[in-house]
Amino acid sequence: MDIQFKDVGYKYKGIKVNYDALDKVNLSIDEKDEFIAIIGHTGSGKSTLVQHMNALLLPTSGTVNVLGQTLPPQKNQKINHLRQKVGLVFQFPEYQLFEETILKDIMFGPKNFKSTEEEALIKAKKAATIVGIDPDLYEQSPFRISGGQMRRVAVAGILAMEPKILVLDEPTRGLDPKGRKDLMKIFKDLHEIDHKSIVLISHDMDIVSEYAKRVIVLEQGEIIFDGKKEDLFEHPDFDSFHLDLPTPLRILKHLEKEINLPYQPKYDFESLLRYLKEAAHE
Ligand SMILES: Nc1ncnc2c1ncn2[C@@H]1O[C@H](COP(=O)(O)OP(=O)(O)OP(=O)(O)O)[C@@H](O)[C@H]1O
Ligand SMILES: [Mg+2]
Repeated sequence: MDIQFKDVGYKYKGIKVNYDALDKVNLSIDEKDEFIAIIGHTGSGKSTLVQHMNALLLPTSGTVNVLGQTLPPQKNQKINHLRQKVGLVFQFPEYQLFEETILKDIMFGPKNFKSTEEEALIKAKKAATIVGIDPDLYEQSPFRISGGQMRRVAVAGILAMEPKILVLDEPTRGLDPKGRKDLMKIFKDLHEIDHKSIVLISHDMDIVSEYAKRVIVLEQGEIIFDGKKEDLFEHPDFDSFHLDLPTPLRILKHLEKEINLPYQPKYDFESLLRYLKEAAHE
């Protein structure tokens, strides 16, 4: 069971013309153990693409199969349950908080998907613990906490539905470096400990390089690369993708040029520092 796109196209209906936001997209995502970054310039179709993964948008051509259900659905087929199975965290999800208390907000999702009050409470508390929301905050208003905490509450609201696959649309946007790192640690643990598949849209190449295993690059609604991150960043035609290199790789390329330090790709700052320390001792 997984997610499969077959020749998927999506047109937004415009006033005068229909706009092709996706064109002949083919891809397949396993239900477990994937950590995929979706990257590409603004307007390239990233958000449109991921909204097909939980049937928020239905393809205007081609088909998407989500965990065994084909979309667009046959008449009378229900698709709402897919929103629970594939948890989608929108850009700036904190704008969608609305309940009186933090705990009620996190309980909203499971209650909506037929959990009883008691079940929803258990799931909400578990999700709050995962994202590091202290029990002291449960009865507080979600509008009286910091932006970073609001983001965590919003993520907990999705986790409380116990989705099989987690899809995140720029989850770290607008957070400070610590907030970014803390949030990414939550997703990394869900991936490494629970083997959850994570699909993450990001403009931040340092995050993509540190956390993702596979990268999909979109350009004007088409996939122009889908493969291992190592193969993307070491691609002989990398320049043709019009992407920035992650900082550790930029530093290493610079040092190779300036002081002949042998280039060995490192995808996060810790590995970079370890390599530089070793090189300094040689
Ligand atoms: N509701 C809409 N109606 C019409 N056109 C839309 C709508 N939403 C998006 N589009 C258009 O579809 C294209 C793809 O948009 P999408 O939001 O998927 O891009 P994106 O890659 O997520 O961009 P960003 O990085 O800015 O979030 C864009 O050209 C956008 O203008
Ligand atoms: Mg977007």
